[in-house]
Amino acid sequence: MAEDRAGIVDGVIRERRTVKVLADEAFPVTDVRPVVEELVDVAGWAPFHRVAARTHLEGALTSIVPWRFYLVDADGCRALRLALLARGDKSKIPRMLAAASALVQATWLPNPAKGEHMGLFEATEENMEHVAAAGAAVQNLLLAAQARGIPNYWASGGALRGADAFGWMGIPTGEILLGSLFLFPTETDGAEVSPGSHRNNRGTPSDWSRWVRLDLPDAG
Ligand SMILES: Cc1cc2nc3c(=O)[nH]c(=O)nc-3n(C[C@H](O)[C@H](O)[C@H](O)COP(=O)(O)O)c2cc1C
Repeated sequence: MAEDRAGIVDGVIRERRTVKVLADEAFPVTDVRPVVEELVDVAGWAPFHRVAARTHLEGALTSIVPWRFYLVDADGCRALRLALLARGDKSKIPRMLAAASALVQATWLPNPAKGEHMGLFEATEENMEHVAAAGAAVQNLLLAAQARGIPNYWASGGALRGADAFGWMGIPTGEILLGSLFLFPTETDGAEVSPGSHRNNRGTPSDWSRWVRLDLPDAG
């Protein structure tokens, strides 16, 4: 029984893969809201250590978890595509929005900066743990999608990370996009389908893990 469960979980983890579906014409719209809500519900069981800063709990979403998911259905994806095309966006994002059955904008919640810092956020241990927890929630969502046979893709987001896109979706500016998660239909006729570029380049566990040999100071 325990072996069956391990086999199923391991199988889904190994099966998960990046699938990018790129279309030049908009795909028909299907309603996948119920299944997206299922995925989000499962994803929320990620571990988290630090509670999100109070400033992030005062808007429409009030959970202490250090991530937020903003859900865009197929109609929304098509509308976002048109808005990006109207701005002359020539990236792959509009082509994926033409095909997607849903998009999840996954953000993480940085602590308010206490001092001067370079870049997007203050490089603190707390922020590192917020990102890590949000990443675990994202992976949960991808695995839940994979288990249901839904092709999926974790993208950096391109224009979907920008202030305009945040404004269109009502995402608070204090949040940082961790990923634009594309969910695609299984029927991809007429579209280009491509894998993740690093899929088969990760090496084996012995390339990125090793048992530790301890070299301790003398006890006494
Ligand atoms: C944080 C993050 C951001 C990513 N952003 C992009 C992206 O912008 N473009 C892209 O082609 N792949 C992106 N990927 C997907 C990786 O290319 C992909 O995971 C990798 O090639 C390994 O393939 P696999 O997901 O099939 O195992 C991203 C993955 C992660 C974890």
